[in-house]
Parts: sequence; C-alpha cells; structure tokens
Amino acid sequence: MKKILKSVLPQPVIKKAFRVRDSMQVLLLPRQEFDCTTLRPGTTVPLDEINSDPRILSTWAADHDAISSVFGNDDRCGGVNPGDRRAVYHLIMALKPTSVLEIGTHIGASTLHIARALDQLDAGGKLITADIVDVNDRESGPWRSAGLADSPRGLADSLHCSDHVDFHVGPCLDLMKRTDQRFDFIFLDGDHSAGAVYNEVSAALAILAKNGVILLHDYYPGAKSLYPDGSLISGPFRAMERVISENPEVDVLPLGELPWPTKLGTNFTSLALVVRRS
Ligand SMILES: C[S@@+](CC[C@H](N)C(=O)[O-])C[C@H]1O[C@@H](n2cnc3c(N)ncnc32)[C@H](O)[C@@H]1O
Repeated sequence: MKKILKSVLPQPVIKKAFRVRDSMQVLLLPRQEFDCTTLRPGTTVPLDEINSDPRILSTWAADHDAISSVFGNDDRCGGVNPGDRRAVYHLIMALKPTSVLEIGTHIGASTLHIARALDQLDAGGKLITADIVDVNDRESGPWRSAGLADSPRGLADSLHCSDHVDFHVGPCLDLMKRTDQRFDFIFLDGDHSAGAVYNEVSAALAILAKNGVILLHDYYPGAKSLYPDGSLISGPFRAMERVISENPEVDVLPLGELPWPTKLGTNFTSLALVVRRS
C-alpha cells in the first residue's frame, strides 16, 4: 500500500503526509521529564556579539583554511552546510565548553569544526561524537560516498585535533542514558523525527552540566521553510512545541540570519539553542 501511494502521489504531498504523521506521533509518546535546572539562561548568550567577536574572527580565518584544505568548503551530502559549520565553531569558541557531546557524526563536518575550536581553546576540551553508523568504516563509512579523502577520524588526525575527539558507535539514547559524564554543550543532529528529538532533549537535559546548552540542527521556526526551494524538516520544531507546552521555562533561540552565507544563496540557518527562559 505504501509503495502504491508513493508511486501515484506527488513528492510534496508525500512529504507533507509524513510531516503530519510525525507531528501526531510525538503527541502520543509517553510524557518525559525535562529537568531545566542546569540549562543556561538565554539572556546570557549574546548571539550578535558571538558572531562578530574579533578574536573568534581571527582564529576562524586560520582554522577555516586548515579544515577546508582536507574537507573542502562545499555543502556535502548530509553534512552541516558551510555557514552552519562556522556558526557551530563560533558558539564553541564563545561558550568555551570543556565537554561536548555530538549526536550525528555522519561525515564529520560539524565534528571537525568542534574539534578544531576545542584545540584552539587549549583547555583540554573533549568531544564525544556518536552515530548509529560506524562512520569511520574504511569500506562503508558515509565519507566514501560523499567523496571525501578520509574518514572523520582520519581527517581529525590530519588536522591534529583527534586528541579532542572520541567516536562512539550506537544509538544515542543508550549512550545518553548510560553515561556518568556531564556535558557543557550537546549538539543534537541525529534522527530529526519529532518523537526522537522529544526523547533526546529529555535525555540531554539529564546529562547537562551547570549552565549548559543544547544546540539543535534543522529547527524550522513555525515549521516553515527557511530556503527558496521550500525544503523543510519539521520534527525538531514539533518536538520543542511539545517540550515547551509541558515546560514553559524552556525556550528556543533560533540563530536566524547569520552575517555569512549558509545555504541556497541565503544567510539563514536552522541552528537553534535550547536555553532557559529567565
Ligand atoms: C544529518 S546527519 C549528521 C551530520 C553531521 N553532523 C555532519 O555535519 O556531518 C545525521 C546522522 O545521525 C545519525 N543518527 C540517526 N539516528 C541516530 C541515533 N538514534 N543515534 C545516533 N546517531 C543517529 C545518522 O546515522 C546520520 O549519520
């Protein structure tokens, strides 16, 4: 039946139907706990200053050249786009976390930017990056089909920042529920369905260090596209709608329009910080 519907219905109709189903499914999930006591207040994250900080601009120039020399500077399949990678780099440089958790390593686009920023900060910062897929596999790792010269681990080695990164293979909720560690910065860029993000934000809050933040990718405010091609991933927004309706002290700060290009000729980013309303 699914196959027949897929062959007769136009793509936009199918995508819309999946989005509607996803937004219904999140409402049916058992209610989770959202402990916001450690979440950083949004008023302490000056996004404009972070994006124009002269110290970050100067380290960015050098790190960007180095990363581009091994990774390129294009929008590769499934990785965070070049403008969003830069925004992640600026956030790490400004917030100075010493323990970072990334969900969704894939080809390592964001991983390399986080790792180089941690190296630049020179405070012994560590990143655990997790993926359900073995992203470093020499035969089947996604870096191969993306046309990269090496795996995320190999590229981190070439960039002399692999000491800052531990790669983890497995479902992220298992890791988040088992770890004793606390993280200052958690980047959720794994499964973007509303139900998965709802559960992951709950699990992330339970392992967040004091004044920590959660960064979401593919957060489209109002479940509206940010780009001229109308592309839209609505899961993270729908998940946060439910989180906020149950926990009004939680807030989302979309990074919005950046001072540099991101995707499809725009400066818009789908990155958004989960913070505490003050
Ligand atoms: C959009 S990609 C991440 C892109 C990556 N941040 C980059 O810049 O290259 C999403 C990744 O999340 C992984 N993923 C999906 N569900 C997951 C889960 N439950 N646990 C861990 N990883 C998951 C996928 O295998 C995929 O590699």
